[in-house]
Amino acid sequence: MSDKKIIIYTPEEIEAMRDVCRRASELLDFITPYVKVGVSTLKLDELMLEHTEKVLEAKSACLNYCPSGMTPYPRATCISVNNVICHGIPSEKKILKNGDIVNIDVTIVKDGFYGDTSRMFIVGKPTIAGKRLVEATWGCMWAGIEAVKPGNCFNDIGIACQKFCAPLGLSIVHEYGGHGIGRVFHGEPHVSHVPLSIPTAKFEPGMVFTVEPMVNAGKRHIMDLNDGWTVVTKDRSLSAQWELQIAVTETGYDVLTASAGMREAPEWVKGWKKPVF
Ligand code: MF3
Ligand code: CO
Ligand code: CO
Repeated sequence: MSDKKIIIYTPEEIEAMRDVCRRASELLDFITPYVKVGVSTLKLDELMLEHTEKVLEAKSACLNYCPSGMTPYPRATCISVNNVICHGIPSEKKILKNGDIVNIDVTIVKDGFYGDTSRMFIVGKPTIAGKRLVEATWGCMWAGIEAVKPGNCFNDIGIACQKFCAPLGLSIVHEYGGHGIGRVFHGEPHVSHVPLSIPTAKFEPGMVFTVEPMVNAGKRHIMDLNDGWTVVTKDRSLSAQWELQIAVTETGYDVLTASAGMREAPEWVKGWKKPVF
């Protein structure tokens, strides 16, 4: 096991990161009233790009993002509807309709630090199945986050997420996970939301990473669309995801992507309470 590539940030760096992370969360607060029947996902993306640059004085980290071997990501945000697991590309042809479940995932960069967070939205009148999946995925993310404290290791996140989802008959995507983040968008370690049989690093104060489980109503298997980015469920079942960026503290964790409009943590969460903004 090697954890030497995981960066430990100083308290000052974490405060700088908290600033961009709060702005990322505020970007989701901003877009919330626009997520309505009839709007295109491209319109939402354009509104968020303008807000990022003009109000938050930050940049989109996604626009033109180009990991090696990939085509540049063409938009400022990812908007993933229904059976889209992640990396949905905003499009003027994708019009939101009643009952859709929608993940909006934003990553912004300011003063050299990245803030990455996503939320689920339900358009119009929720369906029973959509609401159930969205709520279960919220619980799954928090179950994973609650495993974060010095002494535990990254594998404890996947164990907790799996323990939460399995009794509900929901499946967790294996191929994508959370990631170290800070001065880089995607750094070490990869954060699995399912248990791994290989050793994982222990949590240490100053580590910063995301927890962002993708949970499918059907089977876990994924399929790529031919646009180079969009990932969908192979069985076309609904998929949901929430994402927060957290820092490890001496006693547990701190949520960096917090803002006035975010949800309160579930009542069973012990390690964190939404601050007053
Ligand atoms: N925000 C995503 C994540 O949670 C990454 C999106 S990369 C993009 O890690 F290029 F698709 F935008
Ligand atoms: Co993200
Ligand atoms: Co992320």
